[in-house]
Amino acid sequence: MMMALMKVLLCLWLTVSGVGASYVPQEMNKTIQNLLQYYKIPNAVRFNGNPVFPKDLVDGNVEMKMVFMHGVLETYEELIGRMLSQLPTATPPLASSGTTSNHDSGGGAQVKADVRSKLTYVLGKIQYLKRHRYQEQEKLLLSLQSLKSIQMSNRTVQSKALWELPQLFEKASSLADDKMRRRRRRRQARNRMHLKA
Ligand SMILES: *[C@@H]1O[C@H](CO)[C@@H](O)[C@H](O)[C@H]1NC(C)=O
Ligand SMILES: *[C@@H]1O[C@H](CO)[C@@H](O)[C@H](O)[C@H]1NC(C)=O
Repeated sequence: MMMALMKVLLCLWLTVSGVGASYVPQEMNKTIQNLLQYYKIPNAVRFNGNPVFPKDLVDGNVEMKMVFMHGVLETYEELIGRMLSQLPTATPPLASSGTTSNHDSGGGAQVKADVRSKLTYVLGKIQYLKRHRYQEQEKLLLSLQSLKSIQMSNRTVQSKALWELPQLFEKASSLADDKMRRRRRRRQARNRMHLKA
């Protein structure tokens, strides 16, 4: 009870203070803005009307959109992994002590270490979201991957698959049919509402 009340108050406060509108934690957004100082490109290039990820996602229901977003998160994981591996490895700060000529590269190493820790932090946020909110999609994609590993040239596999085909063909067709019928029902319901109005 107390917890619920506190949650309501927190939400209220967040809404009033204008922070609650976003799922992006301020710390994360700030970190990204900081990283953009390092990954600088001209505005004309950034806003050339050709984003890396499409603005409007796939058409369809929430489930399909979530499958797609899982793909986006996974792509970001890989991308940030690549960005991390492209950072020159930071030399230990004390390894080059003694000579003054190394001060500059020491500063550079500092920046690299900073970028590395910021990228790692952002990566952690992405992985957390994926691991905790996209489990179903993860499972679905894993089962899709396991289809790819079926031994297509194996005669035993070929024969077993043929035997299983009638049932699966039936299932696949009826699923598609269900979907069409549901859509038609929805359209009819909408039309009835129009007639009543
Ligand atoms: C992130 O920060 C920028 C710059 O401060 C701001 O314009 C933007 O609205 C913020 N985005 C989110 C999702 O909080
Ligand atoms: C073909 O598949 C069967 C069943 O999965 C397996 O027992 C057999 O070892 C496979 N044969 C070859 C040549 O890979």
